[in-house]
Amino acid sequence: MVTQISPSILAADFARLADEVARIPSADWLHVDVMDNHFVPNLTLGLPVVESLSRATDIPLDLHLMITDPDRWAPEYAAAGGASVTFHAEAATAPLRLARTLRGMDTRAGLALNPGTSVEPYADLLADFDMLLIMTVEPGFGGQPFLPQVLPKLRQAKQIAERQGLDIWLQVDGGITPQTIDECADAGANVFVAGSAVFSADDPDAMVAALRARADAAAHARQTAMGVGAAEASSS
Ligand code: DX5
Ligand code: ZN
Repeated sequence: MVTQISPSILAADFARLADEVARIPSADWLHVDVMDNHFVPNLTLGLPVVESLSRATDIPLDLHLMITDPDRWAPEYAAAGGASVTFHAEAATAPLRLARTLRGMDTRAGLALNPGTSVEPYADLLADFDMLLIMTVEPGFGGQPFLPQVLPKLRQAKQIAERQGLDIWLQVDGGITPQTIDECADAGANVFVAGSAVFSADDPDAMVAALRARADAAAHARQTAMGVGAAEASSS
């Protein structure tokens, strides 16, 4: 699976969004955090800003909806320009129906899990999703420290996906830096959101490249180790 980097504009200057996005031309996605002050204790942006952003850049929009009632709103965010729309399992009433609606609109459907939400209850739903977002901080704010307690769940999600033969992307979001990205890639993540690490860097695009290089190296080491493990198992 190819490594992808999705810088979060939550850490950018909201008065100059188009200029900020122009500083990260090699980003694979643009991560847009929509918060409603109900699902999380913070308020960010809504449909008009998403519509404007989709006109201002060719980078596909990776929308992360931290809102109540995504069943009502997620399709509107897909229509506003989200190439990928991720909603929270804790907030959705009918996640399967919503995933199918999004896919029917040619939008990638993502399911997000808070740090305290287990992945097992959602295992049977994953075939209907293009991405699973494992939150690595409590959602609501940028700049929080990475929660390593979430890594076992990430490994478990990777195993569930492999067991089911799913081509689902595994995204991590929160506290992703050059210091924490290796362990996430090693645990199976392949899409990495980074806000502060990218936009506080002197050269944000160089940081995107540095994060991708580190994650690629960790993923490669993981695959090599698995290959050696498999060879040892078959020869014993
Ligand atoms: C947090 C948001 C994240 C946030 C990440 O609720 O979902 O996308 O912007 O920011 P950093 O990388 O600074 O932790
Ligand atoms: Zn996010």
